[in-house]
Amino acid sequence: MLQFFVTQLAASLGKSYVLTQDSDMAPYLTDWRQRFTGKALAVVLPGSTKEVAQIVKACAQANISIVPQGGNTSFCGGATPDNSGNQIVLSLKRLNNIREIDILNQTISVEAGCILQTIQEQAAAQSYLFPLSLGSQGSCQIGGNLATNAGGTNVLRYGNARDLCLGIEVVTAQGEIWHGMKGLRKDNTGYDLRDLFIGSEGSLGIITAAVMKLYPLPVAQWTTLVATQNIASTVALLNLFQKRAVSLLTGFEMMALESLTLLEKHFPQMTNPLQNKPAYTILIELSDHESEAHVRQLLESILEEALALEIISDAVIASNLSQANLFWHMREHITVAQSEEGANLKHDISIPLVALEQFVQETNHLLKAQFPGVRLINFGHLGDGNLHYNVSAPEGINSQKFAQTYEKPIQELIYAQVELFQGSISAEHGVGQLKLDVLRAHKGVVAHELMKTLKRALDPQNILNPSKVISV
Ligand code: FAD
Ligand code: MLT
Ligand code: ZN
Repeated sequence: MLQFFVTQLAASLGKSYVLTQDSDMAPYLTDWRQRFTGKALAVVLPGSTKEVAQIVKACAQANISIVPQGGNTSFCGGATPDNSGNQIVLSLKRLNNIREIDILNQTISVEAGCILQTIQEQAAAQSYLFPLSLGSQGSCQIGGNLATNAGGTNVLRYGNARDLCLGIEVVTAQGEIWHGMKGLRKDNTGYDLRDLFIGSEGSLGIITAAVMKLYPLPVAQWTTLVATQNIASTVALLNLFQKRAVSLLTGFEMMALESLTLLEKHFPQMTNPLQNKPAYTILIELSDHESEAHVRQLLESILEEALALEIISDAVIASNLSQANLFWHMREHITVAQSEEGANLKHDISIPLVALEQFVQETNHLLKAQFPGVRLINFGHLGDGNLHYNVSAPEGINSQKFAQTYEKPIQELIYAQVELFQGSISAEHGVGQLKLDVLRAHKGVVAHELMKTLKRALDPQNILNPSKVISV
């Protein structure tokens, strides 16, 4: 019966778009972190929205569940099938057309499988900025970005994927196509269906296209690395920049010393130009649409004020584009350095800025006391209160064993602290299968039940990414 289903699919889509050999399917069955591996009946590669709808209809009829997959770069196992071998992985990679750039409306209409970097490049070719920016932008897809409501390094100024989206096209769990591709900035016609699908990680519908906002491309950008001694000074620095640079502030990223030590171990060419190994290295970017001189002057004057207030101890302004790129590469390669070091534990949390200093001090202390030698790879989008509070095994300890033994107690400790400080256990990476079990406690019973109600209403057969985000 299952085999017959696959044969039928291959007959309608073409054999080369229905993968069934283990070696062909392998790249789709393990996640980026190699934390999850599953099995699949087939990996299916439709070439159009219509084909996606056909596949979903066929799956609904045969009661076969579907795991949508974009660039497979996410961190919570949302795009990895279970171990039953009865699910199909539906890859959106062939839906990769840029449908339209509408200069008057400042929007770009793209299919779900478009690589994020391609969208940025297409926009830049027309002198526009598509601001969503992630370390994975060379391989993640806009459909995946919307399905996870991705954040990244430009949220501070432009918002996350949700804020950048005006319309979407979705294939529902029944295989119907919802054409929600209006690029309107105002549309108060009842429930916001677009926002329901964004961030639903493939559990409510399959996103096949979207209308995204564009912005004028800045003409000048200055990037600096700044040394601070603690989180309290860093938050004070953020406040100073927000007050004085206002909307010119486009980046404010934090890297704790231990994360840069790990970076230098794996990428020795990425040494910190700041002297004396500061406790925190802050990457700040200002962008302007007028003049290079104006923004440079502003940056220097804010840094002088910060030095006078003693909230920073040192600063290096990138002298050219390649040094600015190096600063950004330092920040973006921490994730890669951590994965080169071996298995690790990720906690993508947000904490109210006012409580961040106390949270970090207390949590660092508790972890170091209970798990001696543990390396706290703390970095992240401090401007958004979003910390990547990641943990690596002590030097010289088998990372796989460490992760297996201590994942649960370390996660429990950190999440208990997050609750205490009224933060979130997922700031930008989503829930997937990694955080499925802790979601109920975190959301509270009422919110969790509402989520179940929505899932049951939109996907009564539970065929869209079951047991991801929410179990019904
Ligand atoms: P996938 O991993 O393929 O899928 C993610 C989820 O979305 C799954 O549940 C999947 O089922 C679902 N899905 C995918 N496509 C669709 C679709 N078309 N319709 C419906 N559901 C779909 N994330 C951040 O938020 N901020 C960062 O700064 C950041 N930095 C990163 C840096 C690196 C080096 C790496 C490897 C990852 C980073 N990520 C970051 C995580 C990841 O890149 C994002 O979550 C990204 O949005 C995932 O996109 P994807 O196309 O790879 O989705
Ligand atoms: C990043 O911002 O670089 C990623 O989201 C963080 C991570 O690897 O945990
Ligand atoms: Zn991040």
